[in-house]
Amino acid sequence: MANFATLKLDDKEVTLPVVTGSEGEKAIDIAKLRADTGYITFDDGFGNTGSCTSKITYIDGEAGILRYRGYPIEQLAEKSNFVESAYLVIHGELPTGEQRSKFSRLLTDNAPLREGMVRFIQSFPRDAHPMAVLSATLNALGAYYPHLASNNHQRDLEHFDEAAAIAISKVRTIAAHTYRVNNGKPLNYPRPNIGYCENFLHLMFSEPYNEYVPTAEVASALNLFLLLHADHEQNCSTSTVRMVASAGANLFASVSAGVNALWGPLHGGANMAVLEMLQNIHNDGDDGTKFIAAAKSGKGDRLMGFGHRVYRNYDPRAKIIKASFYKALASLNIKDDPLLDIAMRLEEAALNDDYFVSRKLYPNVDFYSGLIMRALGIPMNMFTVMFAIGRMPGWIAQWREVAANSKLKIYRPRQIYTGETQRNFIPMNLR
Ligand code: CMC
Repeated sequence: MANFATLKLDDKEVTLPVVTGSEGEKAIDIAKLRADTGYITFDDGFGNTGSCTSKITYIDGEAGILRYRGYPIEQLAEKSNFVESAYLVIHGELPTGEQRSKFSRLLTDNAPLREGMVRFIQSFPRDAHPMAVLSATLNALGAYYPHLASNNHQRDLEHFDEAAAIAISKVRTIAAHTYRVNNGKPLNYPRPNIGYCENFLHLMFSEPYNEYVPTAEVASALNLFLLLHADHEQNCSTSTVRMVASAGANLFASVSAGVNALWGPLHGGANMAVLEMLQNIHNDGDDGTKFIAAAKSGKGDRLMGFGHRVYRNYDPRAKIIKASFYKALASLNIKDDPLLDIAMRLEEAALNDDYFVSRKLYPNVDFYSGLIMRALGIPMNMFTVMFAIGRMPGWIAQWREVAANSKLKIYRPRQIYTGETQRNFIPMNLR
């Protein structure tokens, strides 16, 4: 295998080192290219650019593989849970019993919000988008915990465990309080004696006269949903977190920026789009046939929840989430769901259709995750918030990788300028 690549530019030959990852991934290191030749590389949208080295998540899109810290997602989904996998993603190893208890205790201790933060959430308009409230409130954590938000990586890392626990635990409380405020309902307070997911469902759905106790299948479906979203290497929001962190910004400011990136419909909004698509197909009285034909012709909408920038195979998360979804539905006694019927027909039709097969378009995680959340009673405008709760461990781990890098340089991509060349200022009367 080559250890270097040779690039010929005009009469000059440049030798560029090859970087090899632990799974044999290869990249050409062009860091010195501009100094040696005056050229930069151009890769609109970064589709073919390795922006960093990272030890957190491995994806092989062709083979449909996803691993956190080397552990296959299928094994974690079967044998672990969200909190333990969060520890793994952040710290690099599965916790011992003692580490696990300490981590859980930190999460429990940090679940409630300060009263000022509760008032902050209550001060937003009732129709505020929960992602706007989430981003603002996560950022405000820096105001409430200044010793964790010094914008000095060395000092912030000294208190890392506390900051990480605050972000993971409070993101859930902020999300649930926002839902309660937006719906004019009294707030619930976190309970110290129930699990992470059970607590979230309690914060969301308990009423003064009726405590919400989820079935094991429902809690497990939520657990899986969060676990499957815990990290996904250098996607848009994660790259945003790393970019902000590279300037020396603290954890709360960085993950708040991640939330803003995730809010974009091309990133975190696809699960909502799947549900809207199913609803529209249902309202049109279509069984999915007309919709698929229009998607194939390029004249209609795309089949949402199908295709992926990285996976050219069945998204491994989609398989896992689909199985847990059926268990949750059975435990909730949901039998006839016309949207589910449409989803199943669409999936079957697309998997047997040459248009989708030849383009390697398979279901992605969002195809079923919207249906799961709907079954759990989560309103559509909270879907991306749920994604953010799940992705928090990944953002934290990626922030730490940047902050702990002693050779860190601020991220600063270059550009190819295509605007006007130099021209002279035109006075107002001549414009
Ligand atoms: N339905 C119909 N046709 C599609 C679809 C689709 N969902 N996705 C791609 N195609 C077609 C596309 O029209 C193109 O056809 P042609 O070669 O004839 O021009 C071909 O497949 C390749 O498309 P592409 O846009 O180059 O593929 P991409 O890798 O840039 O796009 C994608 C990936 C996810 C943006 C796209 O597949 C899509 O829009 N899917 C629907 C939205 C969706 O489900 N997004 C969630 C992604 S998973 C989120 C996560 O991991 O966090």
